[in-house]
Amino acid sequence: MAGQDGDITLFEAVELERQRTSYPSDLPALPDLPSARYFDPDFHKLEMEHVFGKTWLYAAHVSELPDKGSYKLFEQMGLSVIVSRGEDDTIRAFRNVCRHRGAALVTEPSGKARRFVCPYHAWGYASDGELKSVPEAHNFACLDKAEKPLLQVRCEEWRGFIFINQDDAAEPLADFLKPYAEQVATFPLEEMSVKRVLATELDCNWKTAYDNFLEIYHVGTVHAATIAPFLDSKSFVVRPLANGHGRFTTSKRGGTSMFKTEGDAGLSEEFKRLTVAMPRFPNGFTALDPAGFNWMNFWPAGPDRMIVVSTLMGRTLEDEEADRAYWDQFAEFQKAILAEDMGLFASLQRSYEQRELTELVLSCQEQHIQWYNEHIDLAIGPDAIAPELRMTRVLTGNR
Ligand code: FES
Ligand SMILES: [Fe+2]
Repeated sequence: MAGQDGDITLFEAVELERQRTSYPSDLPALPDLPSARYFDPDFHKLEMEHVFGKTWLYAAHVSELPDKGSYKLFEQMGLSVIVSRGEDDTIRAFRNVCRHRGAALVTEPSGKARRFVCPYHAWGYASDGELKSVPEAHNFACLDKAEKPLLQVRCEEWRGFIFINQDDAAEPLADFLKPYAEQVATFPLEEMSVKRVLATELDCNWKTAYDNFLEIYHVGTVHAATIAPFLDSKSFVVRPLANGHGRFTTSKRGGTSMFKTEGDAGLSEEFKRLTVAMPRFPNGFTALDPAGFNWMNFWPAGPDRMIVVSTLMGRTLEDEEADRAYWDQFAEFQKAILAEDMGLFASLQRSYEQRELTELVLSCQEQHIQWYNEHIDLAIGPDAIAPELRMTRVLTGNR
């Protein structure tokens, strides 16, 4: 339930956490974590196949597909997927692959098209994927257009966020997200749209970057002047959620957003007084704030290469000029914070790859790193993982 942490309120939970002076009695000791998980090519292949190949992945937001015919390309991990709003207003995802000889139908990152016409030999597809036109069709011996629609990818929506899944056997998005969705039910996501998208390629494993956003331990040193003044990091409560998701709640120092707007009128108390941050399995993270938030996704691009995509979201101000200025400033602030973090990752990655650090050490405040890594192993099937790379499952051990 949002607003609750078991039997106590979130406000009581953060206060208890602030007063804690010893390791939590209800949390197992966290074992060292094998650093080879962050560069081993075989492990990377397993992650790609069993985690990224079978899990619901964020691909687009409805605000990026405002009209019938609007489309956006999702291109990560070698995939090229067209997410589009059809003439019938239905949102679908298609592989960006022409059924003739495989050319990409769409090359612009986003746009609007009544039909997808292949740039190679001009086969034309309707917005529902149906193959409509084939130039000089009489030259094909037995081409049945009905048998060559665009290849669909599973695509489902949750409160404006569009997810895709390459696994036809995967559970519905709503089931996968349920533990996560329950926690943010009172946050007005529907009032918010995509304002800016920032993407940064980094020389590290996707988890090296992701882990950084799953703990508050570094905030006092890395963000001493930017975030630390606004967050009471000692009050950081970590709540593991089913399916590898999680929730972090932290008291706002002074009870205000660091962005100083009036945007929280009508907001429920927990979102006013606390920072509620939500890691989403396998590769999502955001810290919800009515003044604007960074919906982050961490994409593998190889064992030691990754792309962080920051989708900046929030309300649109009525005055166009003021809106632009606000979001430009918001983006600059986000970039400055991210720059503080990102400078560190290459050194972590180097330590792992050079085998200088073979195990990572985790505190209780870093327990979500253990949690999602255990879920990676559950998704892969622990037996398929080399024993020295396997997690010691202390948090999911009985499942
Ligand atoms: S590859 Fe698309 S029409 Fe030939
Ligand atoms: Fe950080």
